[in-house]
Amino acid sequence: MRHAVIMAGGSGTRLWPLSRARRPKQLLDVVADAEGGGAHSLLAEAFDRLRAVLPADRIWVCTAAGYGEQVRAALPELRADRLVLEPVARDTANAVGLTAALVADADPEAELAVVSADHVIRPVERFAAALESAYAVLAARPRSLVTLGITPTSPATGFGYVQRGPATEVDGVAEAVSFREKPDRATAEGYLASGEYLWNSGMFVWRARTVLDALAEHLPESAAGLARVVAAPAGPERDRVLAEVFPTLPRISVDYAVLEPAAAEPGRVLVVDLDVDWLDVGSWPALAHTLEDDGQGNAVQGLGVVVDGAGNIVFSDDPDHLVALVGVRDSVVVHTADVTMVCPVGEAERVKQLLETVEQRY
Ligand code: GDD
Ligand code: MG
Repeated sequence: MRHAVIMAGGSGTRLWPLSRARRPKQLLDVVADAEGGGAHSLLAEAFDRLRAVLPADRIWVCTAAGYGEQVRAALPELRADRLVLEPVARDTANAVGLTAALVADADPEAELAVVSADHVIRPVERFAAALESAYAVLAARPRSLVTLGITPTSPATGFGYVQRGPATEVDGVAEAVSFREKPDRATAEGYLASGEYLWNSGMFVWRARTVLDALAEHLPESAAGLARVVAAPAGPERDRVLAEVFPTLPRISVDYAVLEPAAAEPGRVLVVDLDVDWLDVGSWPALAHTLEDDGQGNAVQGLGVVVDGAGNIVFSDDPDHLVALVGVRDSVVVHTADVTMVCPVGEAERVKQLLETVEQRY
């Protein structure tokens, strides 16, 4: 049967100080409702998107144990036994592996879609159609690892790149010739110019068993550890083994651990064209696309005023605190209860570095 899991355990450091270790970006109510109502979280949006394709009881969420309660509160439809909690973060290879092991334990033939919690995707109908094609291609090619690809618009270095090869029997699905996670700028420019590459959207479809086999091949320590976890009877004993094993697993993303090496095997990785408006809300400039425009080209959320300035991102998290700018251009100004952060829009990727320094000093 078809299942899906939302990976929701990232900490969203480039959206500091809004995104915090205790309340990361995917759980913040930052996406404005289309009808102009209140805002909702990226996680809730990811869940609703999957509901267009699957019943609620086949949607899983994998996240850090510390976010469990917030996830339950954000997703009233999520079934209790579909919430997978990691004792510590070991990146997506292990999050995917753990969920796949649990899904395969419940349903050995399961097809499992893996989606991110930090995307804005419109329209939902085209997303649903691409997901259907990805599930469908598994019928003829059960060993494949399918990624959903996006037509790139810039030589971004924060994404994975998939090289499109020969078409398959399913419309819109091609074999991938290579997969490269987060290339350097010059490489990314070459990929963009060639027209042969798609961005990896960070969404995948495969049989739960297939991704476990791929982990056994490319990341055997993880596969062995996860096999120990599911060998334990569900309940306190499994939780105990998980707490013991999971922290020992190598910290690596599924893109580096599985997709890159697997793509070297011809026909193993497939790519579906995902023709949608897609945004990975990873940084302040990306989040700004989801905010209201003040009519002068500034993205403003909360109490904010800009006089004689454009290209600014102004965010006040405190309903009683006004952020006011005059004569300022292309700056990010974010105010929260305990931190105010200012940086040029062009250097917003460095917020991660800023946070590292802050954490060393405070
Ligand atoms: N459960 C769990 N545990 N989830 C995690 C963990 C973890 O340890 N680490 C990250 N996640 C979640 C994040 O919350 C997010 O929803 C998703 O997994 C992807 O993680 P990111 O950290 O945002 O990855 P990325 O953006 O650097 O790169 C990935 O996504 C890009 C597209 O957005 C890769 O798949 C790239 O190839 C891809 O282009
Ligand atoms: Mg991301």
